[in-house]
Amino acid sequence: MDIKRYLEQKRDEVDRFLESVIPGAATPPTTLHESMRYSLFAGGKRVRPILAIASAEAVGATSKAILPVASSLELIHTYSLVHDDLPAMDNDDYRRGKPTNHKVYGDAMAILAGDALLTLAFELCSRSDLMDGLDPARQVQIVRELAYGSGNLGMVGGQVLDIQAENKDIDLATLQNIHKHKTGMLIRAAVRMGAITAGATSPQLDSLTKYAEDIGLAFQIADDVLNVTGTREELGKDANTDAKRGKKTYPTFYGVDGAKKMADECTQRAISRLSSFDAKADPLRELARYITSRKN
Ligand code: IPE
Ligand code: IPE
Ligand code: MG
Ligand code: MG
Repeated sequence: MDIKRYLEQKRDEVDRFLESVIPGAATPPTTLHESMRYSLFAGGKRVRPILAIASAEAVGATSKAILPVASSLELIHTYSLVHDDLPAMDNDDYRRGKPTNHKVYGDAMAILAGDALLTLAFELCSRSDLMDGLDPARQVQIVRELAYGSGNLGMVGGQVLDIQAENKDIDLATLQNIHKHKTGMLIRAAVRMGAITAGATSPQLDSLTKYAEDIGLAFQIADDVLNVTGTREELGKDANTDAKRGKKTYPTFYGVDGAKKMADECTQRAISRLSSFDAKADPLRELARYITSRKN
């Protein structure tokens, strides 16, 4: 299959859907909506929504509910980036090829735009009119997955560990735990939410969860590597920021080549988790490869 084409096609679908549910910049409060749209439509790869869609496809059912479910993940992810870039956190100036949200709208509006994106995510996946007849019990399970993956035991918990590890001599197990939470848990939620939308059986959900945990780690190792090897032009965000902020990463422990090798191993392990799935899981297999070979 042509993964590049697949990514473009799904990205367009997600973007069109997001455009249809996010208020226009002229809707009051206008600065808030402008600021939300600024970061949301700045050109993210949409990896999490695409993973949710591919996971539903692997299970085999098609439902229109997958688009709101998948798009809610992008709202959470974008909010996490807006807050991650704030001066009180990573203090970054560029994101998705543009000045960071707070550089344009100020810290207060960036905090509020993040809050609003987070809240809107939950409104979106709890709307019954967009669920195409999905069983409400399953919808509640999806909302819960989103909350768990993003919250105190998920992404936010990981961000806390990440901040607390700055300028500390952490060991590898601590680093792995940071990655598992700050990046892995939302990716895990994405794959599980797609699978639940499609009515996965419990063994299917277990295999897909293991796949997600492996690619989640691979994704963040690749992000660490790109932070060392990439340029601002390629990444759309500043490079070498981890070292500047005293963050230990996989390349700190293993060097760039060692870290790349570890990411590749995670990818292979992830693909092996899908052995009981047929060709409908090929997009998930290709996504696993894409995650470590990407240039941004
Ligand atoms: C960047 O995520 C932050 C991490 C969790 C590693 P992405 O690499 O998915 O960023 P966008 O969405 O494409 O900008
Ligand atoms: C971002 O991690 C993780 C979340 C936003 C939850 P990083 O801080 O390492 O990612 P970048 O490099 O800023 O995209
Ligand atoms: Mg960070
Ligand atoms: Mg950051």
